[in-house]
Amino acid sequence: MSVINSGQIEFWNSEYGLAWARYADTVDVMFAELSDAVLGATVTGAGDRVLDLGCGNGGTALLAADRVTAIGNVTAIDISGPMIDRASDRLTEADIVNAIFILGDAATYPFAENSFDVIVSRLGCMFFDNPDSAFRHFSPSLDTGGRAAFAVWRAPRENPWAMAPVSAARDFLEMPARPGPEEPGPFSFADPDRVNRILSATGWTDTDMTPFDFRIPLGNTLEDALNFCIKMGPLSAPLSAVSGTNRTKAIDAITGVLEQNTDDDGIVRLDGACWIVTAKAP
Ligand SMILES: C[S@@+](CC[C@H](N)C(=O)[O-])C[C@H]1O[C@@H](n2cnc3c(N)ncnc32)[C@H](O)[C@@H]1O
Repeated sequence: MSVINSGQIEFWNSEYGLAWARYADTVDVMFAELSDAVLGATVTGAGDRVLDLGCGNGGTALLAADRVTAIGNVTAIDISGPMIDRASDRLTEADIVNAIFILGDAATYPFAENSFDVIVSRLGCMFFDNPDSAFRHFSPSLDTGGRAAFAVWRAPRENPWAMAPVSAARDFLEMPARPGPEEPGPFSFADPDRVNRILSATGWTDTDMTPFDFRIPLGNTLEDALNFCIKMGPLSAPLSAVSGTNRTKAIDAITGVLEQNTDDDGIVRLDGACWIVTAKAP
């Protein structure tokens, strides 16, 4: 019998998870606006007890710890060992004492009952094998009036930051099959009908999905942006599996896209499109 979320556990502890940990600061610059949107949407403030799902290197959790002040606290969980290690180091460096990082599967971790006011997640909710079971699992950990806000990607066609490099390079690479509509993956919460179905089936109410469009800085220089595409974006796995002429042609094609999207300040920015989903706990 396969273990729940085992594919994602393996993936986020591979080279890919290591790259996300190594480039934690880059990731936080890319997605800073999303953290603000998520924390703003839940009106996270002094005294709140916050749970951050799929916290990665802890960028959002550290901001939340500041917002909730010393009378609140933050618990942040992720399945990636490299990223939780990085998050824990950042916590120590920042001398923050009201947050903890847990290495574990959010969908099964035994959270104490009534221990949170707010659940937040920046791009961490789309990777559950069984999201119905995960959202049912979170509910008892929320206290009366509990609420959630999470950022998830809209459809691939609305996200050139991910798809423009893919379109340019795909002829030279073997791209993996797209996950099915009920399978985990970055775009698995893009369909509002699916998100509404999952949340209502698990007793969450007042679901709202607000579009959030932003320009994503992929890197301060062309080199940084290319590094992101090679190591962390959707092309990292297909690129690592190819060598020789095809690899060179793929990288040239990606570089062309990045050059076209370099602003006057030298920063490479492409458009991103998310939903900010909010809901009330059962
Ligand atoms: C796209 S990354 C986002 C990381 C972080 N929230 C950020 O914005 O930088 C998705 C994260 O979800 C985590 N994740 C995936 N499935 C998970 C699960 N079942 N429990 C906890 N974390 C999970 C991954 O390890 C990864 O860190």
